[in-house]
Amino acid sequence: MGICWGSPATNPTPTTTGHLSSAGISQTTSSTISSRISNTTSSRSTNTASSQGSNVSGNSRFSGRGSDEASSNGQILPTDNLRIFSFAELKAATKNFRPDTVLGEGGFGRVFKGWLDEKSTGKSGSGNVIAVKKLNSESLQGFEEWQTEVQFLGRLSHPNLVRLIGYCWEEEELLLVYEFMQKGSLENHLFGRGSTVQPLPWDIRLKIAIGAARGLAFLHTSDKQVIYRDFKASNILLDGSYTAKISDFGLAKFGPSASQSHVTTRVMGTYGYAAPEYVTTGHLYVKSDVYGFGVVLIEILTGLRALDQNRPSGRHNLVDWIKPYLYDRRKLKNIMDSRLEGKYPSKAALKIAQLALNCIESEHRHRPSMKEVVETLEKIEASDEIPREPKARSNRQQTQQNLQQRSPLHPRPDKNRAYQQPLRAR
Ligand SMILES: Nc1ncnc2c1ncn2[C@@H]1O[C@H](COP(=O)(O)OP(=O)(O)OP(=O)(O)O)[C@@H](O)[C@H]1O
Ligand SMILES: [Mg+2]
Repeated sequence: MGICWGSPATNPTPTTTGHLSSAGISQTTSSTISSRISNTTSSRSTNTASSQGSNVSGNSRFSGRGSDEASSNGQILPTDNLRIFSFAELKAATKNFRPDTVLGEGGFGRVFKGWLDEKSTGKSGSGNVIAVKKLNSESLQGFEEWQTEVQFLGRLSHPNLVRLIGYCWEEEELLLVYEFMQKGSLENHLFGRGSTVQPLPWDIRLKIAIGAARGLAFLHTSDKQVIYRDFKASNILLDGSYTAKISDFGLAKFGPSASQSHVTTRVMGTYGYAAPEYVTTGHLYVKSDVYGFGVVLIEILTGLRALDQNRPSGRHNLVDWIKPYLYDRRKLKNIMDSRLEGKYPSKAALKIAQLALNCIESEHRHRPSMKEVVETLEKIEASDEIPREPKARSNRQQTQQNLQQRSPLHPRPDKNRAYQQPLRAR
């Protein structure tokens, strides 16, 4: 039996413990649903079959493995392999959701670090460390996205997708349990502040880009295409060796049927990353994800956020502002992340800038596939140009560096987070 893609009840309120089976959700009532809302609306919305994709009850729309190399390490599991946790277990694992275990917070709620009892896992040491995402009662996301996350991520397995270990659904409590990603999110590394945040060197940036591209390529080339819809730096998590893994499948959707080029859906996602055709028409293409990937590539090059209203006017939107700088090596140098301290191979950087330009083409058909993106990035990595140590700087270069450091072009205050969410209300 495959995934039941049924629509949950309207505005459900959980009253009992529920569980999902490979056949779908067995509890008929569920929590007050909120979704990330399109545009500026912030009211809670009901969820419908149309917002979730069609109901394919009892008939899995996943089948088999992805069909090419990009997805060769990935697998679509015949049934989900998820563990059902009790709320008490997760409470104990996170020391009663103690504030000092908080790893971060997003639209769904807080994410806590937790430790599972060795006896229950049969593992010792780091195998027992988990990340627990707990729905906030104020959340505008909620049951619908929780359900989508469980249904997609519970059955997708790939080295570049974060592993969902299980979930808890008890009374009003909705939680998700993931493998713990030691280095946190790419967003923290690119834009975070504080002594714990080390700037990422060039080779690690490239490794992250390749890992994330492989994850997305796997989704796009799986037998039934999956459109991820929320590609952004905060959803790329990093393990202890900076392997990138895509997280947060709450907005994922199956791709269009063979006779169609796109899926029509409510506009959701994050401003700054969402593809223009999707924002203006609600037409979602597999290539809409490629646009988001291009934006992240530009963030990786520049260390600048996709959207930042603290920047001077005309520079709020990274793509609009930076695009003209991506065409040639001289211009590119002016906008490269100053935290790289010039230690990057300029030829490779230009190739990545050109790849990013292809990915953000306004016409979706002209964007490369993620498989092509992976191949290009792998070639760039294989060319193995050694990041050069910058020579003693000329006066001009020094002035540019100082300008970048003093100017508001690289602001990293946490309050910028708010500007990354507008397609969804928080
Ligand atoms: N599996 C994990 N391991 C370690 N840290 C995690 C894990 N999942 C999330 N985090 C941390 O929690 C933070 C919040 O994650 P979350 O996905 O809830 O929000 P977000 O991605 O910042 O925003 P959004 O709600 O728009 O997705 C992340 O930035 C990351 O630092
Ligand atoms: Mg996230």
